[in-house]
Amino acid sequence: MNLVTGATGTVGRQVVAELLRLGRPVRALTRDPAKAGLPDGVEVVRGDLTDPDTLTGALDGVTGLHLITFGGEYFAPLETGPRIVDLAREAGVRRITVLNGGGPTPLEDAVRAGGVPWTVVTPVEFMANALEWAEGIRTADEVREPFTGRRSAMVHEGDIGAVAAVALTEDGHAGREYLVTGPEVLTLKDKTDAIAAARGRQVRLVELSEAEAVEQWRAEGRPQDVIDFLLEVYGDTPVEGRTVHDTVERVTGRPARTFAEWARTHADAFRPWSAA
Ligand SMILES: NC(=O)c1ccc[n+]([C@@H]2O[C@H](COP(=O)([O-])OP(=O)(O)OC[C@H]3O[C@@H](n4cnc5c(N)ncnc54)[C@H](OP(=O)(O)O)[C@@H]3O)[C@@H](O)[C@H]2O)c1
Repeated sequence: MNLVTGATGTVGRQVVAELLRLGRPVRALTRDPAKAGLPDGVEVVRGDLTDPDTLTGALDGVTGLHLITFGGEYFAPLETGPRIVDLAREAGVRRITVLNGGGPTPLEDAVRAGGVPWTVVTPVEFMANALEWAEGIRTADEVREPFTGRRSAMVHEGDIGAVAAVALTEDGHAGREYLVTGPEVLTLKDKTDAIAAARGRQVRLVELSEAEAVEQWRAEGRPQDVIDFLLEVYGDTPVEGRTVHDTVERVTGRPARTFAEWARTHADAFRPWSAA
């Protein structure tokens, strides 16, 4: 059995889908099973990573465990890692994958020290982040962003899920840290052009000043530390975020998906005439 935490999230849903595709049994952890909306064939269990005692039943018979490093709003880092790892080891877990958010976390430290073979999966920017533009594109044919010259090796979330699923179910990935990227480096203009082509209608890219972007993010309710993080990674994207690596192909045996493919799959999200 494989237990996927964060299973209702952008990446977790893809880890679940890939495990199902590989014919592996999947159990999905969520704080609210009624809202999970996971596919048939997935065993959905209730649990909260901030309260590890809620995980004991969920870990019964589990050999592969996929972990997120956060447990609250705006990705508040989990402090319960040592207990989670103890419970996993006692339950007989043989492989752990960790979805890393780009920096050290107490959960990841606990996994590395915990004695169960682990693999760290570190994605760059998700292609799914482009869904944040859906409303502006649907209602105004427009994307409003700062730092429009920034470059990104953004990765398809399905490929992150595929790398994690392989590391969870096959030998040869213990102690590895996988930086997972897409197959090309794109500017914002490349991305809006790909969405325009996929939806069959033009998309304007409007450059915001830093001050205008901060104002917009505040209006959206983002806390100051998140705004500071966005200014840092968008204003001066670290080299890892704009460099292509062949991890997806090496680990899964098939090439990483392009943003054009992602945009075609999600074209309806950007079409006013398809909106409910
Ligand atoms: N967006 C990016 O471009 C990007 C790039 C690189 C890395 N990352 C990293 O990716 C991670 C975010 O992944 P995501 O986008 O897939 O997440 P997400 O879509 O925001 O989903 C959050 C998930 O976490 C679960 N969760 C939250 N608190 C929980 C708790 N206390 N107990 C159990 N489950 C809990 C939620 O489950 P329920 O609500 O169902 O309980 C949900 O499945 C972060 O670490 C981020 O730093 C993001």
